[in-house]
Amino acid sequence: MAVIAHKCPNIQITIVDINDEKIKAWNSDNLPVYEPGLKEIVEECRGKNLFFSTDMDSAIQEADIIFISVNTPTKTYGYGAGKSADLRFVESCARRIGEVAQSDKIIVEKSTLPVRTAESIRDILEVTSNNCQFQVLSNPEFLAEGTAIQDLENPDRVLIGGEQTPEGLQAIETLVSVYAHWVPREKIITTNLWSSELSKLTANAFLAQRISSINAISSLCEATDADITEVAKAIGSDTRIGNRFLNSSVGFGGSCFQKDILNLVYLCESYGLNEVARYWEQVVLMNDHQKHRFSRKMVSTLFNTIADKKIAIFGFAFKKDTNDTRESPAIAVCQDLLDEQAELAIYDPKVQAHQIYKDLNISDPEAEAITLCNDPYEAAKDAHAIAILTEWDAFKDLDYAKIYASMKKPAFLFDGRNIVDLEGLRAIGFDAFGIGKPNPKRNNMIVS
Ligand code: UDX
Repeated sequence: MAVIAHKCPNIQITIVDINDEKIKAWNSDNLPVYEPGLKEIVEECRGKNLFFSTDMDSAIQEADIIFISVNTPTKTYGYGAGKSADLRFVESCARRIGEVAQSDKIIVEKSTLPVRTAESIRDILEVTSNNCQFQVLSNPEFLAEGTAIQDLENPDRVLIGGEQTPEGLQAIETLVSVYAHWVPREKIITTNLWSSELSKLTANAFLAQRISSINAISSLCEATDADITEVAKAIGSDTRIGNRFLNSSVGFGGSCFQKDILNLVYLCESYGLNEVARYWEQVVLMNDHQKHRFSRKMVSTLFNTIADKKIAIFGFAFKKDTNDTRESPAIAVCQDLLDEQAELAIYDPKVQAHQIYKDLNISDPEAEAITLCNDPYEAAKDAHAIAILTEWDAFKDLDYAKIYASMKKPAFLFDGRNIVDLEGLRAIGFDAFGIGKPNPKRNNMIVS
């Protein structure tokens, strides 16, 4: 919304939330989300055509277009628990809009939703409203965190789905005209509602599938001494495959991939398409396997025990340039290491302490085997091993000779993101391991 406000000075945007704390933060110097370039844009537009408020009803009444951008977490209870999307927040938005609106409006689904949710939104609006006309559009968001501003300013495409009726097509055109302020028309794809909703789930499923595919091959590389970076380059040079999104890692995280695939799985199951459901579910299972494979490899390499050993964790966010930890592979790895009774010293440049404690279910930080550190050198001091779990650029240029000198020997380093120079580290003295990388010592057992 900040980018739309920035690109369209003639459009007034009001962001409303029931959470007063969040709105206060958006109106302050400390925005609740860290995203490169966002603060500058918010500061430029705030108070001019970008407003943050908790006065939901006035904002609903004044708006011509309403974007529903609430969270749709995986349901944790009842039917579809663990797979389907929890739509209670979407439903309560639709109800509130229906009850409060006094004029016709376009309602845009921005949240990622199961296919055919637009139908439910429309039904709720119809029964709750007082004779107002609503058009429901689907306009899924494809930005990635850490590069959100550039993705929005220069998107590969914008997708808008709507009903294929004269009113629906007119609503689509209205939203197209918003994006057309800065996105070339040929990049704005319009479809029917269901294609748009399904495209979002499918795009995330395909992207996550690429990572699980390359990660599956990474374990074969470790078994055979092939190098996953060389394999990725060789296959990525085929233009049909393409060279992006082939970085093998400790696993994918983030708020979308797992949730959307599980959503797709649930959708398939509910239409009786069990083979299709199992096919996509395997992408998530492979990802879980990769995270646990990484921790098991650490344990087996450290002579089959890490109990009471200090392990330095470099990075906790699910990727670099964000403070977001949702579904971060670091959570699963740290949990595994804690289960093995290791002592963890965690450093992340952006993630806040309370978030790490929450993610690891720690109620009393004093009593637990976790220390949060202010810099990576402090984390690595007297550690038996380092695990790099987020690809922060800063981890590439640390003084690893200094770090090595301060660690217990043999000093192990496990690079879960393949960002450091393993040969250089080995020259310093480290026993260094990457994902899908050959091991020159070749004495390691294969951890499958
Ligand atoms: C993703 C989609 O890219 C985006 O289009 C959608 O709107 C939301 O979900 P995001 O989760 O923000 O975006 O980040 P992304 O860059 O896709 O990374 C997801 C995870 O995959 C991260 O944990 C990342 O580290 C990992 N990843 C990504 C890899 O392990 N290897 C890769 O080659 C790329």
